[in-house]
Formats: sequence, C-alpha cells, structure tokens
Amino acid sequence: MYNISKHNPNDPIICLAIETSCDETGTAIVRQQKTDAVPEIISSTVASQIDVHALTGGVIPEVAAREHASVIVPLIRRVMDEAGLKQNDISAIAATVAPGLMPALAVGVAAARTLSFAWQKPVVPIHHLEGHIYSALLSADSKEAIFKSLPALALVVSGGHTMLIAVQAPIQYRVLGTTVDDAAGEAFDKVARLLGLPYPGGPALSRLAAEGNPAAYPFPRPMLHSGNLNFSFSGLKTAVLYTLKDIPANEQSVHLADIAASFQQAVIDVLAGKTEAAIKQHHPQTILLSGGVAANTLLREKMQQLSDANGLTLKIAPLNLCGDNAAMIGQIAVNALRAGRAISWQEIDAAARRSIEDFSAPS
Ligand code: KG4
Ligand code: ZN
Repeated sequence: MYNISKHNPNDPIICLAIETSCDETGTAIVRQQKTDAVPEIISSTVASQIDVHALTGGVIPEVAAREHASVIVPLIRRVMDEAGLKQNDISAIAATVAPGLMPALAVGVAAARTLSFAWQKPVVPIHHLEGHIYSALLSADSKEAIFKSLPALALVVSGGHTMLIAVQAPIQYRVLGTTVDDAAGEAFDKVARLLGLPYPGGPALSRLAAEGNPAAYPFPRPMLHSGNLNFSFSGLKTAVLYTLKDIPANEQSVHLADIAASFQQAVIDVLAGKTEAAIKQHHPQTILLSGGVAANTLLREKMQQLSDANGLTLKIAPLNLCGDNAAMIGQIAVNALRAGRAISWQEIDAAARRSIEDFSAPS
C-alpha cells in the first residue's frame, strides 16, 4: 500500500479516472481542492459503443473489450489535454475494477496499471456502483451538505444492476436488496426488443410509453410483497411475451404503446414499493437515485413523490452522469484516496463479481 498520509488535507488531489466496465469507455480528470471541498469535474469524455452493439442487439464482452482497447489511449490523452495537465500533476489513477464484463474491465485496469507503473503514481480501485452512488450524493453544493445527507438510501438502477444500498457514512455501504434475475434496465431492454424497438431499449420504450395507458394491461408486480428487499424482473418480461402472443400479429401495432406504458408502470411500482419498504426499515435522511434507468422521467417523478411523502430529500444524479462515465469514478476516487485507498500497479486486479461492501472504509 502507498502511504498517502503525505496528502495534506489542504492540498489539492487530482485523479485521472477510467471506466470500462460495460459498453461505455469513460475517462475524466477530477480535482478536489481540499479535503472538505466537493470534487470538481475538470474534463470528461464518454465514447459509447451503442452503434456497435445495436448490430447484435446486446453487448458481446469481447467486442466491447476490443472497442475499449481501440479508444482508451486517445481518450486519456484528450482529458489530460483538455485539463491542461501533465503526468506530474496527477495524484493517482482511478479505475473501475468491479463488477462488470471481465474482458471490458481488464482493458481499463490494464491502462491504469500501465500508467501507474510508468508515472510512479498509486492506483485507486473503484467499485462501479460507488461511482453511481456518488454521482447522486455529490449533487450537493458543499461537502458539509453531503455529510448532512447521511445516512442515505441509494437506489442504483442500470442495465446491469438493481440495488438498494444503505450508505451509513462516506464510503460505508451495506447491500439491502438486489435483483435475483434481470436488472431493471435489462428488463427495459429485453421488453423493448419484444416490442420491436432498437437497442438500448430503455429510452425508446419510455418514449413509446408516454403515448400509452399504464393501466391497460395488469402486469404483475414481482416480489412487491416478498417480505425482503430483493427484486425480480424476468417474470414481467415473460408476461409481456405472453400478452403479445395473444394478440394477432396484424393487430399488435395499435397495442404497443399501452403494453410499453403498462410494463413501465409495473417496473416503477416495484422500484418505488421496495424503496418505501427500505425507508420504513432503515430510516434514511436522503434518497439517492442513480444509474442509467434514473434517466426515466416517470421514475424520477415517482421517487420525488415518495421522498416528499416521507419527508426525505431526494438527490438524483444529473442526467449527463446517469449513464456510465468516468467522472463519477473520479469523484468517489478523490474521497477514497483521502481515506487511504491507494494500491500499487502490482496489486490492481479486475473482478467480474465483487460486492460493494468490500470497498467500505474500515470503520
Ligand atoms: O448505467 P448504465 O448506462 O449502464 C449500466 O451500468 O448498465 O445503464 C444503461 C441502462 C440500459 O438498460 C438502458 O436501457 C437504461 O439504462 N435506460 C433507461 C432509460 N435510459 C436509459 N431505462 C428506462 N428509461 C430510460 N429513460
Ligand atoms: Zn453503470
């Protein structure tokens, strides 16, 4: 472990951050002026692979890795140039090390390892979900405001994850619930495909849903009353499939908007219902909403109503940080670095599956 106690709390910290866990290559420079300042995003780029994966209707890990490998170096150079920084200005290199598609993660980890070796700078290993959580938490305007918002309850909803996480203190996480099968975004993508919509289906499905009646089809609300905080969405997808099979092919098009709206409503009812149950059990001050599905307007509205009804503050990740990006990785990284999380290039390793709880700071 590097000894980072040499970081004076009043000194700035600057991280180069790298994100390659799925189908977006992200690089960013994040600076924190001093220990109680909100981290600033100095420069950030995201190269999406959507066009490539649209051809196959989903992400093939090896294809994603090849795309990351072809753009990662120019994207690192771009954020360094935009920030006007040289290697000696960088305090540490942060990279998403887990969870994600192994071949994709390995590209970002290899880039971080190489730069760490060449520049003689430590690495800050980051869990992807920490990044999503901090993208909502840091929408506060001062570090003091951030601390006041804890303990918080984070709902992270993306293509790969549907999770309720208690954030008791900065860098202290406890997983309260997760999906037992498909993630919410994955369900949006799969149902969108059934409805003939392009990949990724979430945005297209929610646009179609805006024209439909959310009460038209009584789709199930899976596990809403299961007594725990876990989720399941694959049965909902199957329910949509059977509904479509019952409608003659030449009549389907007039029903698609109603099906989309009813499906979306079912997903959101479950997400909100489970969040409400978690509020009752864990008494947070704040709700944090983040991940790609947090871009969904109806979900944002429903979470606002829920927060208001329970007298809680809702913090939602800014729209440009809902999807995968490296700015969110850099924002948690500067905090993690100040808390002592710094390793050498020999120690960094990618893991397809690892719990966010393993990344909690020692309490
Ligand atoms: O966080 P993200 O970019 O990547 C992962 O870490 O998975 O999330 C992408 C997911 C996709 O499944 C996409 O369909 C979904 O977020 N998504 C949406 C919306 N915008 C993106 N789902 C529902 N409504 C939206 N407006
Ligand atoms: Zn993500």
